[in-house]
Amino acid sequence: MPSFLTLDDIEVGSKRVLLRADLNVPVRNGAVTDTMRIERLAPTIRELAGKGARVVVMSHFGRPEHGFDPALSLRPLIEPLSRAIERPVAFASDCIGTEARRVVDGLKPGGVALLENLRFHEGEEANDPAFARELAALGDIYVNDAFSTAHRAHASTEAVARLLPAVAGRLMQAELEALQAVLETPKRPVGAIVGGAKVSTKLQLLEFMLAKVQVLIIGGAMANTMLFAQGKNIGRSLVEREMAETARGILAAAKSASCELVLPVDVKVARVLREGVGTQTVPVDRVPDDCMILDIGPATVELIGSWLERCPTLVWNGPVGAFEVKPFDAGTAAIGRRVAALTRAGKLMSVAGGGDTVAALNQAGVADQLSYVSTAGGAFLEWLEGRELPGVKALTRSP
Ligand code: 3PG
Ligand code: MG
Repeated sequence: MPSFLTLDDIEVGSKRVLLRADLNVPVRNGAVTDTMRIERLAPTIRELAGKGARVVVMSHFGRPEHGFDPALSLRPLIEPLSRAIERPVAFASDCIGTEARRVVDGLKPGGVALLENLRFHEGEEANDPAFARELAALGDIYVNDAFSTAHRAHASTEAVARLLPAVAGRLMQAELEALQAVLETPKRPVGAIVGGAKVSTKLQLLEFMLAKVQVLIIGGAMANTMLFAQGKNIGRSLVEREMAETARGILAAAKSASCELVLPVDVKVARVLREGVGTQTVPVDRVPDDCMILDIGPATVELIGSWLERCPTLVWNGPVGAFEVKPFDAGTAAIGRRVAALTRAGKLMSVAGGGDTVAALNQAGVADQLSYVSTAGGAFLEWLEGRELPGVKALTRSP
């Protein structure tokens, strides 16, 4: 990975810092229901404001289709942001133009302003240079702290970085350093846990991981497709039958890359996916015709645990069972506890990311016991696919 500049490389003084944040957080009835992204962003703002900078925070929120949409305003974020950074936050009801200018001009050293949703302007997603110039006019330095939106080549993540001195904020820096530690300069053998529903959506990720890690553990419904491809009866399990050939290709590629591919050896099955439904635990070659695989079994937890003991480094994306429905969260939670224990003991450097993964780790109460949990969903996935993220690339180029 090319190196990037950070807050350590710039003198902010009382300059205006245009800060790209990702405040695209879940909001219900005007209240933020998950504050992780806000809390993880706060140190960057506190540091900048503490040094006397005038901090101009910009973000997208949701996916507005036709300009201004009151339901997708960033207004509900003023209060939670202000609480997280322990400072008042001024608000500009437009992210460019005279309104934005007025609010930014009113900032004193150490002051913080939040601009309205960037995506109310078409120029944002179009990565329009003219729109980027309007944003750039609001700052002297550009800081990108939105790793979770770095997979988008938008005006606020890409074009604007060409117009101002551009550096990574503390959260962006932490995300990049964590991914670098597991994928670029790791202690080997490196293990990966890849879960989730579909081989088809994670094909590129699996292929890239095969070449990068020495132990690839596959769980979730995508493991069903692998088992099916090996000729196993998987009953009524969720499966992509048309991906069987591709799945066999992955098994063969793992072999030639000397990557140990670990699949479930026993599974928890049920007739329906419903909370509290009667379950059975069976070896993978004994799945009843009328049942579906919904989680890994205890022997698989042990097997994965023993592989984890041998790996000093782990990257994890995707739950290994239908964790949203109890008791099918048990496998993912058990693996989460193993990972947490090994990490606490200093034996494992563990990095996890992706919306479902983080939700499952939070549900299991271990999210804060891993070495690093990413705030990103799509961006984390694209990184694990070996792709270059436009928002990261923009930070490695001098203006
Ligand atoms: C996310 O929540 O994944 C990021 O904020 C990116 O949002 P987007 O998928 O709407 O671009
Ligand atoms: Mg997304």
